[in-house]
Amino acid sequence: MSLGEFEFGDRIQLQDEKGRMISFTLTEGETFHTHKGFLKHDDIAGRKEGSILITSSGMKFQAFKPLLSDYVLGMKRGATIIYPKDLALIIGYGDIRPGMKVVEAGAGSGALSIALLNAVTESGSLASFELRDDFIRIAEKNVEDFFGKSPGNWKLIHNDFSSATSELSVHVDRVILDMLAPWDQIDVASAILRPGGVLIVYVATTTQLSRTAEKIKESSAFSEPMSFETLLRPWHHEGLAVRPEHSMNAHTGFLTIARRVGSDGVLARRRRPAKGAYSSEI
Ligand SMILES: C[S@@+](CC[C@H](N)C(=O)[O-])C[C@H]1O[C@@H](n2cnc3c(N)ncnc32)[C@H](O)[C@@H]1O
Repeated sequence: MSLGEFEFGDRIQLQDEKGRMISFTLTEGETFHTHKGFLKHDDIAGRKEGSILITSSGMKFQAFKPLLSDYVLGMKRGATIIYPKDLALIIGYGDIRPGMKVVEAGAGSGALSIALLNAVTESGSLASFELRDDFIRIAEKNVEDFFGKSPGNWKLIHNDFSSATSELSVHVDRVILDMLAPWDQIDVASAILRPGGVLIVYVATTTQLSRTAEKIKESSAFSEPMSFETLLRPWHHEGLAVRPEHSMNAHTGFLTIARRVGSDGVLARRRRPAKGAYSSEI
């Protein structure tokens, strides 16, 4: 097992005494400058993760390779990213594993692309659809910087997700949609998913959530969708002062998850409609 020495091409994350983080790629011959001295990249190469590095003027930094969650929060953004707490839920509840074939749209800034590529590993594959030129470039750079190269199992497709039925030659295990109008793409997702495959849709608002869930139910191609949001509340702990942090990201988005059914169709749910669900009953 590697003991975590820094090598040229690695991303480095330096944390100062106030907990502030700076990230860069270790490059032969380059120098990292601060307001209190500099560090030569050549002197960082070969040091172990977790080391304390001291600049020419005595400023101290703890050095690590960034975690995926730190990297996506710090990387350049075009479109709004999916936050680490939701990335973790997509991977966990979507049961996204090594060797799987996964498709996402849109790629945006590439935060989800990085998490998906990490989960499927080199034995799986990811196809990411994106409409906008500028976001394609940002996603490409963010993914390349994270992995140190463009992953050979990643296809970044500059096209509408609706072209997936012609772009892809095989059925896939998972489809993840993060876009403004995912309800327009449910039929495409159902056409490319294998039976038993999982559709995951991430949206920011309740109106998007409602339209998406209703469209999934209407399609008759998916099991009953399950939707939820997650509130992550960070805590402060210092001696006896143990309390929630004063601020948190109270809302990011909603996740909706459904399974692709087979050729027998959907097993209809036998239950009474919830009160107020339909205007004719009010
Ligand atoms: C919120 S961003 C995605 C962010 C991304 N998941 C991330 O974590 O960085 C939504 C993206 O979907 C793209 N998009 C919207 N509709 C699309 C479509 N029909 N096909 C492909 N991309 C689409 C937009 O251009 C935008 O970049």
